[in-house]
Amino acid sequence: MKNITKICCIGAGYVGGPTMAVVAKQCPNIKVTIVDLNEARIAAWNDPDVNNIPVYEPGLSEVVAEARGRNLFFSTDVDKAIDEADMIFISVNTPTKTYGAGKGMGADLKWIELCARQIARVSKSDKIVVEKSTLPVRTAEAVKDILHNTGSGVKFQILSNPEFLAEGTAVQDLLAPDRVLIGGDDSIEGKEAIQALVDIYAQWIPLDRILTTNVWSSELSKLVANAFLAQRISSINAISELCEKTEANINEVSRAIGTDSRIGPKFLKASVGFGGSCFQKDILNLVYISRSFGLSEVADYWEQVIIMNDHQKKRFALNIVRSLYNTVSGKKIAFLGWAFKKDTNDTRESAAIYVADELLNEQASIQIYDPKVVEKQIYGDLDYLETRSAELNKSGVTVFNDPYEACNDAHAIAVLTEWDEFKDYDWKRIYDSMLKPAKIFDGRNILDHKLLKEIGFKVYGIGM
Ligand code: NAD
Ligand code: UDX
Repeated sequence: MKNITKICCIGAGYVGGPTMAVVAKQCPNIKVTIVDLNEARIAAWNDPDVNNIPVYEPGLSEVVAEARGRNLFFSTDVDKAIDEADMIFISVNTPTKTYGAGKGMGADLKWIELCARQIARVSKSDKIVVEKSTLPVRTAEAVKDILHNTGSGVKFQILSNPEFLAEGTAVQDLLAPDRVLIGGDDSIEGKEAIQALVDIYAQWIPLDRILTTNVWSSELSKLVANAFLAQRISSINAISELCEKTEANINEVSRAIGTDSRIGPKFLKASVGFGGSCFQKDILNLVYISRSFGLSEVADYWEQVIIMNDHQKKRFALNIVRSLYNTVSGKKIAFLGWAFKKDTNDTRESAAIYVADELLNEQASIQIYDPKVVEKQIYGDLDYLETRSAELNKSGVTVFNDPYEACNDAHAIAVLTEWDEFKDYDWKRIYDSMLKPAKIFDGRNILDHKLLKEIGFKVYGIGM
């Protein structure tokens, strides 16, 4: 059995960075090199000030500070890291396709294929290749096909090891995961490869939390896990709209159903809609795969989770317009939060982007504050939608470093991210600085609505 002493991870993003930093921390005897084509990203991971690493995650800078330079390295020399490694993780992006067949639905696997071809070209010794990226079921077949036809005599084993961390809690999720999933071939060599990866995780994770399956179950389980999680949010968000019509309260309904141990309390928080780089992409992918097998009922069933989420974002924006007497043209609306959830600087698919887009269509003037998201990112997110020119986005949106300034002179405040600091603001001071009637749209139900009403705010929560 081969003892793994050198790991290479291709992709230094939100998954590759934290995942491999934790592997390096927990396994000081393994040299871990994370490589990326993006020079700026690698430079940021290597920044002498560890607070400047490109991914914000509570506890991550401490992990990087401990392992970097000891057995954790960041580099742009992809070939060298592949050549040296016994085990190579592929952790590159797999976004929704924006062109051609499957546009807007299927996963774009061009970066995966590039990695496979590069590994095939560079490798001079046998390797275990691990799919860490989230991939459509049966992707390993294509990876295998590329790797097994090099003619070099080098042998490859392909494993699927999807990542279940959630952003904002990545370090804690990686240190104590509910489970680790490893899929591999049933052959002797496949079983040896699975064992080699089990041995790495077993250095800090109890064996009963390390599940092994065949490759296809592992690939599919990742899509299914995300679909089930997102489905709970769309289910509770659907009920939130009914609550708003019936004087039922979504927080009370959520608690009432979540205490049934068969349902459970997690992932039942009504919101302005789920965001993040995974849920929408992975469900669209599941829908696309189901359709490609002719399973239209299966596809329609899961697609409804996305349709509901789009509706929730849109109705939040329209509710603001309606409540401001059917026009927001020229009115200042303050956004608290832009990240797709708290404790991350990631904004991919954040509900805030879509709410802002709707309000910009209504000619609102948006004033944004987020504790961790920089101005350039916010304009980039809006420009990416291609709804209007970059100049128009710039003229409709102002980004502030101070929440009180963002709220100054506003007709309304919209809470888009559940950052803890929002709860502790001086809300009387904010109220005094706003136009009256001052309105708050709490898209996360995190503020003290009773207190805000006492101050004088008109408060609109989700599902109440
Ligand atoms: P990311 O965009 O943050 O990082 C991917 C990195 O890969 C980028 O820095 C990019 O430059 C690099 N890259 C792409 N092609 C490359 C190549 N050929 N050689 C070297 N570098 C290359 O993406 P992410 O959020 O880390 O997600 C990676 C994968 O993990 C995706 O499949 C995603 O679905 C999955 N995933 C993400 C999360 C999450 O919370 N973000 C959780 C679980 C799984
Ligand atoms: C998700 C999965 O949870 C994780 O297992 C997978 O590896 C990657 O995708 P992530 O997208 O990072 O993780 O964050 P998550 O905590 O799942 O939140 C996703 C979105 O759902 C956020 O916008 C969040 O605010 C929203 N959400 C979550 C709700 O609106 N209500 C909830 O009850 C929970």
